[in-house]
Amino acid sequence: MRRYAVVGSPVRHSRSPWLHGFFARRTQRDILYAALQPRDTFAACCGEFFGGGGSGLNITLPYKADALEFAESASAFARRCGAANVLKREADGGIRAYNTDGSGLLRDLQQQGGDPAGKNVLLLGAGGAARAAAHALADAAPARLWICNRTAARAEQLAAACGGCARAVSLEEAAADAHGGAHLVINATSAGHGGNGNNGNEGGGDIALPPRIFGGAALAYDLSYGAAAQPFLRAAAAGGASRAADGMGMLVWQAALSFAIWEGVLPPAQAAIRQLRGN
Ligand code: ATR
Repeated sequence: MRRYAVVGSPVRHSRSPWLHGFFARRTQRDILYAALQPRDTFAACCGEFFGGGGSGLNITLPYKADALEFAESASAFARRCGAANVLKREADGGIRAYNTDGSGLLRDLQQQGGDPAGKNVLLLGAGGAARAAAHALADAAPARLWICNRTAARAEQLAAACGGCARAVSLEEAAADAHGGAHLVINATSAGHGGNGNNGNEGGGDIALPPRIFGGAALAYDLSYGAAAQPFLRAAAAGGASRAADGMGMLVWQAALSFAIWEGVLPPAQAAIRQLRGN
């Protein structure tokens, strides 16, 4: 039986074991899927897993950059992102890194009627999560990709790495008339998460977003889900965004695309999303 696992810290609340169990049942694949928290180093944990015959790993925070380093080869997209969320033992025994976070985001945006092609997109954040989102969005041929970050230099770096239509903007510029026309506003900051030095309200979220940035938005989307997404989703609704969605779909899609890399079959992601949302 092929063995897979997710590696993270903390990993106890990961939805990945449930998701991959669901996908395996629906595609009639016989797999085992575990959750692993490294006792020692990340590399030791992966080495032990693959050394013991494991077929593939999902990698979550804080190890996505380490995963890229651990692998012997990597997809071009994972290399551009500087991060991997999937490791696979290839037929020749080598470990290859992939990144399905960006493609997972695009799949869910398309499902939600928020295809970025030809649209003005405003991305908030320039950290690890934003990087995969920015590269995937830039690849999806938007009309413009504005990247806005608390630390402006990181937004500039990311926009330069994305090239083409990408440009760094300040929050003031993003809210000004010239930039008020974002069709899609995507939050990739960790401002809604607790424990990152914020004021402790609403799970730590203290990002003050000018309501005008949402004025023309058909979709406002937060990469996180549950309580962490709520401050942004509320701000989007109050600012006039037509629709607001959290990143549950992205989570499911990155898992589904991981499963497809390992098992060669794309499992029913929408069915998993419906189950998780309880409808
Ligand atoms: P992740 O892997 O979740 O993306 P990260 O790499 O630490 O985590 O990036 C966190 C992102 O959220 C960054 O863009 C950060 O902005 P800075 O680059 O200025 O640090 C952003 N962020 C976190 N807390 C924020 C806050 N309270 N207001 C605005 N941006 C915030």
